[in-house]
Amino acid sequence: MPFDRRTFLKGLGLSAIGIAGSTGAGSDDLAVVSQASAATPPGHAVNFADDVIYQIISDRFHDGNSDNNPTGELGSDSCSNLRKYCGGDWQGIIDKIQSGYLTDLGVSAVWISPPFENITAVDSDIGTSYHGYWARDFTDANQFFGDMETFEQLVSVAHQNDIKVVIDFVPNHTSPSTSDDELEDGVLYDNGSYVAAYNDDPESYFHHNGGTDYSSYEGQIYRNLYNLADFDQHETYIDQYLKDAIEQWLDLGIDGIRVDAVAHMPPKWQKTLVDTIYDHKPVFTFGEWFLGADQSNPRYYEFSNDSGMSLLDFRFGQEIRQVLRDFTDDWHGFKAMLDETAAEHDQVIDQVPFIDNHDMPRFTVEGGDTRNTDMALAVLLTSRGTPTVYYGTEQYLTGGNDPDNRKPMPSFDTTTTAYEVIQELTALRSSNPALAYGDTQERWINPDVFIYEREFGDNVVLVAINRSLDWYDVSGLVTSLPEGTYDDVLGGTLDGFSTTVNADGSIDTFSFSPQTVCVWEYTGTTTEPALGHVGPTMGQPGHTVVLSGEGFGSTEGTVEFGSTAASIVSWSDTEIEATVPAVAGGYYDITVTDANGVQSDAFSGYEVLSGDQISARFVVNDATTDMGENVYVVGNVHELGNWDPDRAVGPFFNQVVHEYPNWYYDVNLPAGADIEFKFVKIADDGTVTWESGSNRTYTTPTDSTGEYTGTWK
Ligand code: NOJ
Ligand code: NOJ
Ligand code: CA
Ligand code: CA
Repeated sequence: MPFDRRTFLKGLGLSAIGIAGSTGAGSDDLAVVSQASAATPPGHAVNFADDVIYQIISDRFHDGNSDNNPTGELGSDSCSNLRKYCGGDWQGIIDKIQSGYLTDLGVSAVWISPPFENITAVDSDIGTSYHGYWARDFTDANQFFGDMETFEQLVSVAHQNDIKVVIDFVPNHTSPSTSDDELEDGVLYDNGSYVAAYNDDPESYFHHNGGTDYSSYEGQIYRNLYNLADFDQHETYIDQYLKDAIEQWLDLGIDGIRVDAVAHMPPKWQKTLVDTIYDHKPVFTFGEWFLGADQSNPRYYEFSNDSGMSLLDFRFGQEIRQVLRDFTDDWHGFKAMLDETAAEHDQVIDQVPFIDNHDMPRFTVEGGDTRNTDMALAVLLTSRGTPTVYYGTEQYLTGGNDPDNRKPMPSFDTTTTAYEVIQELTALRSSNPALAYGDTQERWINPDVFIYEREFGDNVVLVAINRSLDWYDVSGLVTSLPEGTYDDVLGGTLDGFSTTVNADGSIDTFSFSPQTVCVWEYTGTTTEPALGHVGPTMGQPGHTVVLSGEGFGSTEGTVEFGSTAASIVSWSDTEIEATVPAVAGGYYDITVTDANGVQSDAFSGYEVLSGDQISARFVVNDATTDMGENVYVVGNVHELGNWDPDRAVGPFFNQVVHEYPNWYYDVNLPAGADIEFKFVKIADDGTVTWESGSNRTYTTPTDSTGEYTGTWK
């Protein structure tokens, strides 16, 4: 049996416990919390593959405590002004967990707005910080969402109800520095004390390079996003401030982090941030790299594969909107997106798909056909990756661009079709591991009909969707479902029907009705080790890593990183905790061998870092290059490619902080290490030009950031 959180909780007598009344976690409740966390499965915070996230704009979900609502200009009582605070708060989320609205829906995580103290000034055009993306003090709570005690209570009530808490973290910037002075000049506080503001910045904690026009990756990173005061993460104080802040929130028990604007910060600095998180308390971490419709980007995939964090799946989100909302593409385009993302992401099941969010018009179109929303939710919830449902989509909330797409919850109706579809499929996600770990295979396709199969071990889910108003004959369909008759998991909610699979895996020709979704499933018993997921995918020797899957057996076997055995912390049929062995930095295949000597397929590409990571800026002056040639760095540690120019780090930048023929790049490196390296020029065609002379040497700082400057040799 795969791990089923409901069965698991029932075993503990913990299913759907709410705290009686809505205030104060008393000592009894805290006892329940520690009991629950003592029994929390190892993969809880590092494996979200069978979870469904519910994304909440904290100010817009539910007002559970009107005492904390802002008065005067900052607030809007009836929420008639969507750019002001409307009263929603953490108590409101607690209330809706306790009322059963979220647990009955079956979502297993909430992603909430950035929880930090934000600026309180009001701008006559752009409004207020109701969304939470204008932080002032990352160490304190946004008072309009609640105080720290309420935050802790949210975490504990969520955990008692087996719901994970994901916070939105915004290490790119503070708040807007506006020319009309209406806001707070991007001011930063630390634990209540003033630190600096954008125009009072003697230590250069912020970038002062103007705003980005998005024309280059470098400009996106080192110039301001809109007019937001852009942190210089290379400054030791800011580096430390942001890392200390996230550790503080990790200590409050959060289970996941959504990182804002990852396309706007140095990628290798972010790798040091992720290392800090995994070294302190590993939790599932995913970034927001916005892509518009039909946009793709090699840097996007590189980030997802290298940074140690996952990404919100904008490729999936934009494509499904074209196929089921805007009807500007069809299932062939969707299939192409599935193939691309499976090929480009090292771990496609760790990405976070969605159908809408707070940065695009809502999926449901005003006056449109809500069946399209229902069908899209069915596809989303049977997708690879961790589906995220945007609050109110289950109530068919409509709205255009921000802030119109952030209206208050219109109702908490648990009988909408969308609510039922989510309910049925969240249950399937936690009972059939094919949805969490399986790959996605096309079984039948035309522009309107897509039939796809998810399979893991002996578990199979077959999904059939006809988006159109036409009937189609489906012939020649084959499946991995064993012979037998299968009812529609959605119970006909989207007009689905049962199907019969013949002994040879074929399904007889059938007429597929309009706007219909069928979900058929088989949950098997996997008796040989099938490794579905490893989390995190990056760490240091001594870190704990969680391996999830099926058929590991109840007797301890072995886990190997390459050919080195890892010590086992805990072992069950579906989850193993192991310690990363003391191997050199590098990429390793991980395998599980059960007590009978049967070995799983390898999980490839686990990255072992060579110790705690710091960020150092390499600057090389006077490096003139030919057209198409770029500067990189390569050296004697894993982080610098172990002298392999194919793994050289770069390309360096040369436009904003330093200008051609001077180049720079912020690089993650092991702390307190003596390293040797050289700069290299690499041409478009791969030709490598090494510097002459002996190797350069650099001792990295033990803590925080460093810098090395040299002249090309
Ligand atoms: C992306 C967030 O999702 C968006 O809502 C926010 O305004 C920007 N980043 C800036 O923080
Ligand atoms: C390692 C050597 O130590 C270094 O000097 C040389 O530049 C690289 N290999 C490339 O050959
Ligand atoms: Ca309130
Ligand atoms: Ca930036």
